[in-house]
Amino acid sequence: PIANIGVVGLAVMGSNLARNLASREGNVVAVTNRTDAKVDRLIEDHPEAGFVPSYSITDFAASLTTPRTAIVMVKAGRGTDAVIDELCEVFEPGDIIVDGGNALFTDTIRREAAVRAKGINFVGCGISGGEEGALNGPSLMPGGSAAAWQTLGPILESIAAVAQGEPCVTHVGTDGAGHFVKMVHNGIEYADMQLIAESYDLLRRVLGQTPAEAADTFADWNTGDLESYLIEITAEVLRHVDADSGQPLVDVVLDAAGAKGTGSWTVQTALDLGVPVSGIAEAVFARSLSSQTDVRAACRDLPGPSSAPALEDPAGFVEDVRLALYASKVLAYAQGFDEITAGARTYGWDIDRGEVARIWRAGCIIRARFLDRITEAYRDQPDLVSLLVAPVFVEVLEAAQQAWRRVVSVAVAAGVPVPGFAAALAHYDALRSERLPAALIQAQRDFFGAHTYRRIDREGTFHTLWSGDRSEISAEDTH
Ligand code: 6PG
Repeated sequence: PIANIGVVGLAVMGSNLARNLASREGNVVAVTNRTDAKVDRLIEDHPEAGFVPSYSITDFAASLTTPRTAIVMVKAGRGTDAVIDELCEVFEPGDIIVDGGNALFTDTIRREAAVRAKGINFVGCGISGGEEGALNGPSLMPGGSAAAWQTLGPILESIAAVAQGEPCVTHVGTDGAGHFVKMVHNGIEYADMQLIAESYDLLRRVLGQTPAEAADTFADWNTGDLESYLIEITAEVLRHVDADSGQPLVDVVLDAAGAKGTGSWTVQTALDLGVPVSGIAEAVFARSLSSQTDVRAACRDLPGPSSAPALEDPAGFVEDVRLALYASKVLAYAQGFDEITAGARTYGWDIDRGEVARIWRAGCIIRARFLDRITEAYRDQPDLVSLLVAPVFVEVLEAAQQAWRRVVSVAVAAGVPVPGFAAALAHYDALRSERLPAALIQAQRDFFGAHTYRRIDREGTFHTLWSGDRSEISAEDTH
């Protein structure tokens, strides 16, 4: 055995990760794949990598030094279980199986327990950054045991993206913590993309900017607070002209957004945890709505506003949209971090949220200048209850909130949908409110179902005899 690390599954992500591993000092990389042709192709295309090829799982295991460490890069789902089962047959106690796919964290918790029962380590590792990141430096979110991290840490550190001299990887927490955090990363990715899309829509439909002009606006925004990978690629996409039609590409792409499920998982999990992630939810719903072709066709002729709102200061509106985007983005991230906080509490993970923000600063899809601020906010106050009250974000919200309101008002008046902006603003205003109409909801629940309520002025649980004399009784008396 000569390889210190192996990769199972050589589709694009697996191949690129294997090449990344091979390019780092000290690594000898074993590779294998369900179909032999993919192995041969990789060996042929990349002789420089010095891969150790195998055509069976047994040979693959034999080519690895102990503790054997294998990264599984197959499409998340049943295939993952099959590969894990095969590896468990040929691996020994102390060896390490890493799942680098976008697995659902509850599957990872289940798999970790099953594999650990055999004495083998199982690490669910979130990997972000797409094909390019896998090759040149992704952001890595491993869970699993501290013992596995001992062996795996240096290997992952060698291939991760680097932000300010630090590798974008940390031991997130035990069992499914890494995949949980990757899931929330993707939820935030959905929200970020939706907010950018709403901004673009406003620039076009309210201000009449062309795609090329909107590209300039985003390129300009990318030099300031909003600097990020997603803003950068937005400018590039908007500038791109379709060779076939001569039209801006964005105008010939079908406006029905796809999704592979991680955004929905983020929302479903948040519902289970009781964490409001409305910005992320609206982003998922906006994609679903866009793909409801028949409903959209049926509703196309419903009435809209009779006249467009008059904009006195178009340049001012561009700046308003920028501020609304920034503020909404702060809300989306705050919601994502709330979900991580709740997940950690429920599943017993000791997650350092500052570390999560730190490893998202480079390599991943949501990488942004903004993540430096989140990192610092948690470094200053590790127990921060909400990102929104970190001094740095209080300042951002203070500077942006009036503009945010103007943008949502203009959008509503113009009939341009801004579910992301509006949900974020509603979340913000709800949190600010001294009293919420939840009091009325509690009273309604008590009315029709004797669900009881608590009072602001006395301890205890109460019920009003709605169908009787409407006097109040202590709820204990109802039993
Ligand atoms: C990443 C991406 C990656 C992938 C998502 C996109 O972090 O590198 O999030 O995991 O692009 O699967 O998901 P949708 O296809 O659902 O948009």
